[in-house]
Amino acid sequence: MKIFLDTAVLEEIQEVAAWGILDGVTTNPTLAAKAGRDFETNLRAISEIVGQRGTVSAETVSLDADGMVREAKLVTSWADNIVAKVPFTAEGLKAVRRCVDEGIRTNVTLVFSAAQGLLAMKAGAFYVSPFVGRIDDGGQDGMEVVRQLCEIKRLYGFETEVLSASLRTTLHIIDSALAGADIATLPYTVLTKAMGHSLSREGLASFLKDWAGIPENMRPF
Ligand code: E4P
Repeated sequence: MKIFLDTAVLEEIQEVAAWGILDGVTTNPTLAAKAGRDFETNLRAISEIVGQRGTVSAETVSLDADGMVREAKLVTSWADNIVAKVPFTAEGLKAVRRCVDEGIRTNVTLVFSAAQGLLAMKAGAFYVSPFVGRIDDGGQDGMEVVRQLCEIKRLYGFETEVLSASLRTTLHIIDSALAGADIATLPYTVLTKAMGHSLSREGLASFLKDWAGIPENMRPF
């Protein structure tokens, strides 16, 4: 499973890229607003950090297909690895189909059911993004939508990648992987929480203490 960062903050992207586990980035208008930088400049900078590792999703904001396609053309012209995000709506589906014809990759976002995801796949979405956490918030099982989409993809041979989004917990990451999601996109804090374990910290502290007990002239560093 690929790991994307769900952020528009350059420092977070740089750090995770340095860890060697970054496969791409997703952004959305909320994250772009939080980054507090010029949208195009920031997207170009993110795309440069991600480079050959994978893609960067940049969201369109028009509500009509013409506007979405126009914005998709613009954002994808900034770098080869940018994918245009479009919302799941009838106009969004129309835009996806037209983007396919133009050779533009799309990420269909705001997917809340397997039916929506299936239609996005049929329209030719490059990625389909079920919003797990927000579905959970509504009292339904968000991960079930991921599982259903992975199964639909397998049964019908769709090439669309299932991008597990709106993830908030370590369990969401594990369950996405077990469901067979192609990608999990994670906020920086969700990723760092998943990395921490008290036994790792305690184990390291005790190894270092024992190491310090070896006389200096008997250890290489
Ligand atoms: C996905 O591409 C979205 O940017 C994101 O996962 C939304 O998550 P949220 O529900 O935490 O805003």
